[in-house]
Amino acid sequence: MAAPWWHGKVAYQIYPKSFCDSNGDGMGDLPGVRSKLDYLKELGVDLLWLSPVYVSPMVDQGYDIADYRQIDPRFGTMEDMEALIRESKKRGMALIMDLVVNHCSDQHPWFQAALRDPEGRYGRYFYFKEGVAGGPPNNWRSAFGGSCWEPVPGRNNLYYFHTFAKEQPDLNWEHPELRREICDMVNWWLDKGISGFRVDAIINIKKDLSWRSGPPDSPDGTCSVFQMLPKTREIGAFLGELKETCLTPHGAFTVGEVFDITRDRLPEFGGAEGYFSTLFDFEHCLVNQTGVHWYQHQPVRFGPWREAVFRAQEEAQRGGVYPANLIENHDQPRGASYFIPAEDYGFHSVTALATLSLLLRGIPFLYQGQELGMCNYPFASPEEFDDLSTREQYARALAGGRTPEQALAVCAQYSRDNARTPMQWTGGAAAGFTTGTPWLPVNPNYPTVNAEAEQADPNSVLAYYKKLIALRKDPALAPVLAEGAFAPAYREEKSVFAYRRIAPEASCLVLCNYAAAPCELAFAQPVGRVLLNNYPELAQEPGSLHLKPYQAVVLEQRGPGVRT
Ligand code: GLC
Repeated sequence: MAAPWWHGKVAYQIYPKSFCDSNGDGMGDLPGVRSKLDYLKELGVDLLWLSPVYVSPMVDQGYDIADYRQIDPRFGTMEDMEALIRESKKRGMALIMDLVVNHCSDQHPWFQAALRDPEGRYGRYFYFKEGVAGGPPNNWRSAFGGSCWEPVPGRNNLYYFHTFAKEQPDLNWEHPELRREICDMVNWWLDKGISGFRVDAIINIKKDLSWRSGPPDSPDGTCSVFQMLPKTREIGAFLGELKETCLTPHGAFTVGEVFDITRDRLPEFGGAEGYFSTLFDFEHCLVNQTGVHWYQHQPVRFGPWREAVFRAQEEAQRGGVYPANLIENHDQPRGASYFIPAEDYGFHSVTALATLSLLLRGIPFLYQGQELGMCNYPFASPEEFDDLSTREQYARALAGGRTPEQALAVCAQYSRDNARTPMQWTGGAAAGFTTGTPWLPVNPNYPTVNAEAEQADPNSVLAYYKKLIALRKDPALAPVLAEGAFAPAYREEKSVFAYRRIAPEASCLVLCNYAAAPCELAFAQPVGRVLLNNYPELAQEPGSLHLKPYQAVVLEQRGPGVRT
């Protein structure tokens, strides 16, 4: 069977509010995105994922949608959207939108009507329940903190359910009329010519309808709303319907944001016949999560991180899933800060991280600014946080006994705002992002870390990314780098991140010395062709390689079954 078209592609996530501002209001917009299409084309990406641009009160930065069929005026008009679809296509790039249908905004007309009459037609689009013993219906804690239940104004003892913020009421997928509305809307967008969707928080659409309290996992007696996920296996009926009535007829590409499914369900969700084309692999982004709240987390350690990547790759391969790989997105801190110790940050570490991530088996998803080496923002006070979940985590850290300084340090490390500071285009005012005042401050490293400077420098992170993307997409290497099998290598080495991509006729060894100290590595066979190297040379002698700090090389070996 021929591989799907998107196996040979590289994807790029645009966070429109922070990408490029065309009208000086301090927020990015669609004409801004359009003005950068040539930059993206030159970078070599083929598939653009646009975070939400629908009408929204922006409580959760557009993931709270008040009208699924209109563009928020902050971002432009429907004509701007259509022009963006057209212009992307013209350059051979596919555009996918964010599909946020676990919940909508509390300002959506459906919810406004439901609040007026919870027992009426639109009341059935949501979950309303009576409280218990003078409190909410159960002890579930929402993803952004606080109860999942919000009292209905003007009603005694009636609550509505929200997995995320209280301004994001959950949609009731049990109700056929609601599902029909969603399908119509999805088809409407696909008919406009978008190529598919990144599907937000989709695992949450099925609820545990017993609504029973769970064992507390926090000192306040609450338990995470996500504890219900293992009890919601029948989600397949909803997803199958969405696939059959909307996605398959349009040949849509979809990437699911699917947390917490057990490994045996990978094929069902992301296999060749799965509900989605592919699924994001988040395993490695969670390796620091040693508790339920940020202040309980530990910095990433190399060994567990590498194991998480290997495990996820092996499980995806076994399950027939071609995964979507990333090191950062709009919900994560910057990969260059999360996976690289601060004292080691620099060209070699950033390009080593890029190399080992982009050549994994699967489709790479870059996040805006990653290709420049953008890193976390140096937050100096809690007032600088905009993100609602960061503010909540700051309060949690204080409640958990951390000092204000400790709480700030933790939140600065993990805040989603790190990824949301403006894209750094130039060394000029506001990094060339806007002529006005940017909605979030620009990272002070912009005089050196910016697209203009890096475009002019053949040894920049950006220049390396271009080479790396070109390599990943080289049609001659597709049997290996797009379709080849994955196998870990040098697993016994303490600081080497290495793996092979193996095809019948050739294989590639991706080899990174992921440490600030040099390393000597036993290497029995000829080195083969060096396809990429983040240093000018590769030092070798018979039987061994000498890798410099954070040196990354890609070696091609011809012939079947090559192994170290
Ligand atoms: C997803 C989005 C995140 C958002 C949440 C609620 O996880 O990626 O940004 O806050 O869903 O919509």
